[in-house]
Amino acid sequence: MDSRFPSIEFLAKEAKRRMPGFAWDYLSGGCYSEINLAKNSSDLRQIQLEPYYLRDFAGADQRTTLFGKTYDSPFGVAPVGLQGLMWPRSCEILAKAAKDHNVPFCLSTVSTASIEDIAKITDGNFWFQLYHPAEDDLRDKLLERAESNGCETLVILADTPTFAYRPKEIRNGLSIPPQMSLRNIIQMFMSPAWSWGQLMAGKPEFKTMKPYIPPGLSMKHLGLFMNKTFSGRLTVDKIKPIREKWKGNLVVKGIVNPEDAQKAIDLGVDGLIVSNHGGRQLDTGESTIMPLTRLAQEFRDKTTIMMDSGIRSGPDIAAAIASGAHFTFMGRAPMFGVGALGNKGGDQVMEIMKKQIQQVMEQIGCEKLEDLPNHLIKH
Ligand SMILES: Cc1cc2nc3c(=O)[nH]c(=O)nc-3n(C[C@H](O)[C@H](O)[C@H](O)COP(=O)(O)O)c2cc1C
Repeated sequence: MDSRFPSIEFLAKEAKRRMPGFAWDYLSGGCYSEINLAKNSSDLRQIQLEPYYLRDFAGADQRTTLFGKTYDSPFGVAPVGLQGLMWPRSCEILAKAAKDHNVPFCLSTVSTASIEDIAKITDGNFWFQLYHPAEDDLRDKLLERAESNGCETLVILADTPTFAYRPKEIRNGLSIPPQMSLRNIIQMFMSPAWSWGQLMAGKPEFKTMKPYIPPGLSMKHLGLFMNKTFSGRLTVDKIKPIREKWKGNLVVKGIVNPEDAQKAIDLGVDGLIVSNHGGRQLDTGESTIMPLTRLAQEFRDKTTIMMDSGIRSGPDIAAAIASGAHFTFMGRAPMFGVGALGNKGGDQVMEIMKKQIQQVMEQIGCEKLEDLPNHLIKH
């Protein structure tokens, strides 16, 4: 571990210094006034754990089994779009780090590496998040590619029924490649490591979607094509055929209330990710730890309950699991690592998280993750 950056906060500060402003804004920002974004971490950090110092203690084991696979730690890398724009090759860097650390990596449909690239890097050990295509034919092609490349877990997204309203992105005119406004050009010049990396890696593209995008589209037309291609609102009727076709594990991400949770379970999904998209969609929504706590109580014996949004440390992961989550994901934290340290950034984040989870478990006298809820202080 690089001792200059022993926390996600230190990594984020360094990433901000190295990334062009528009890329940093896209990664770190949220919707509207970023109230939901801020609450995700601050509410999670209200959780308190009770230590037991005088009990026998045989050591802490943070391994956990999810969908029949044993992972080294209870966290994974959440799907993030446009990764290569934020830092060159960051999607590939994080997939490799996840494989080396034996934790799951989830590829977004709109990230900058292809299903095939990620399958190679992870030896087929990856999850795929499907943005729901408007055409069944495209949906089936993507599902076939994911399956034939070894993907065992498919994630479908409930929480993006409409485009988000993110003032920073609107101001920056975010697109791939970034719009050549004077402001953006100056920001690129001021970020030499980012610019050099982009030059070496080639311009970021939607590689998974590339076979379906007509060649030579202008940026404006690429935007229109992507709008037409994906229909954001997930419905019961869209989940049903996916459940029928997809033989692997099916997970719905973005569930925050019992009605939706029950509907998804009735449709035969294998797990839920309680998430508010990292505070990027609904500023008047609850922080994720709130619905997580309620949904875990009601559904954790019926399905696998995972959580993301706001996690920036090992204690945060321990708090989520103590509150009832079986597993957690992080979107921004691994990207902050790559923004700060490039190729070494994924390893750094995973080492930090593993060390911190271990320390918390040893400190409170918790041998197994399943015992963490017994340490939760209830008010
Ligand atoms: C820049 C950015 C892009 C994202 N793109 C996607 C995406 O393409 N698909 C998806 O399911 N979630 C996407 N998310 C949401 C993440 O998967 C995850 O839910 C969120 O980042 C968790 O919050 P955290 O960043 O506080 O860990 C994105 C998040 C960020 C920060």
